[in-house]
Amino acid sequence: MDAYKFTIPEIIFGRGSLKYAGICAQQLGASKLFVVSDPGVEKAGWVDKLFEILRREKLDFVYYNDVVPNPRDYQVHNGAKYYEEKEADVILALGGGSTMDAAKGIALVVSNKGNIKDYEGANHVKHPLPPMVFIPSTIGSESNISQFTVITDVDRRIKMTIISRTLVPNISISDPTLLVTLNRDLLIAPVFDSLAHAVESFVSPLANPFTELQSMRGLDLLIRHFRLALEAFHLDDLEQLAIAGTCSGMAFTNASVGLGHALAHALGGMYDVVHGISHAMLLPDVMRYNLTSCMNKMATIGRIITGKTFSTEEATAQAGIEALEELRAEIGIPSRLREILPDNTMLPTVSQNAAKDICLRTNPRPADWKDILNIYYGAW
Ligand SMILES: [Fe+2]
Repeated sequence: MDAYKFTIPEIIFGRGSLKYAGICAQQLGASKLFVVSDPGVEKAGWVDKLFEILRREKLDFVYYNDVVPNPRDYQVHNGAKYYEEKEADVILALGGGSTMDAAKGIALVVSNKGNIKDYEGANHVKHPLPPMVFIPSTIGSESNISQFTVITDVDRRIKMTIISRTLVPNISISDPTLLVTLNRDLLIAPVFDSLAHAVESFVSPLANPFTELQSMRGLDLLIRHFRLALEAFHLDDLEQLAIAGTCSGMAFTNASVGLGHALAHALGGMYDVVHGISHAMLLPDVMRYNLTSCMNKMATIGRIITGKTFSTEEATAQAGIEALEELRAEIGIPSRLREILPDNTMLPTVSQNAAKDICLRTNPRPADWKDILNIYYGAW
């Protein structure tokens, strides 16, 4: 039997747990806290609420908010310069995946120096990062749990995946009440991202009994509470989605993801497609591509999604894939790439970029750039 590893941060989960932000930063030795958030979270009122909490704890802090979806390399470098100018010592991120990934990039550059591009790939980070407290304002990326950060290289128009144990935050504070200020669009994409994390980590060659449990639990909760959450945005359902996202995050940070993420990263880098929307459009096709390499596990996924077992494993697996397509149609997400991309002339280049993505190494079935191009064309 191989040895297994399972790495996660200290996790604080619960309604109202945002109030522990200052105490957690103090526990990590903060004398000047570097807070990273973004205009969207400011608008929702959570940044002011956080500042109130930090002031109550008498914490000295500075604030950086130049972050956009698919965060850019130059934003990481501008943030790192500001961190150094202000002599900050602990990083607190409050936001979605882009904000948390940018904060990780800043932590990486201030501690290891050079350019963020130097660290693309797995295990190139040599020195420890400043302590990090991460507070997600939505689900999906689970950057608050994971050892991943994804930063856009503007010159090459690609999203760089950086993987390192040092990128796991020290403390994750997950407060489901933050989800009540999301709207329908802000919830849909992250849930499809989480679905992709649950499915891809489950069939990854790095999956182990501990990650498999988290993948299955995450998938089950996502399927059971997604429609309900979209109907009424009731806190009970949002809380279950937050638990689901955390489960999927614990799974994928240890077992990694696969082809679906390589495809999504390449589309995001070239066309700025929202990460979760790429998954909503392509996850069923990715599952079909992988089917023969992991039939038993795909049947388990099908059983969780549909709640039914069909006459063969393949029929159960196919039913799960079709149910995801029905879910996508019901929610009103486009199913064809032509509906969201200007043209398909760049798809060969996008496929070649996807074929170099590190996530592809943990896909159960090998894929070269031509296989990837076929999937993109199939979805066109
Ligand atoms: Fe993802």
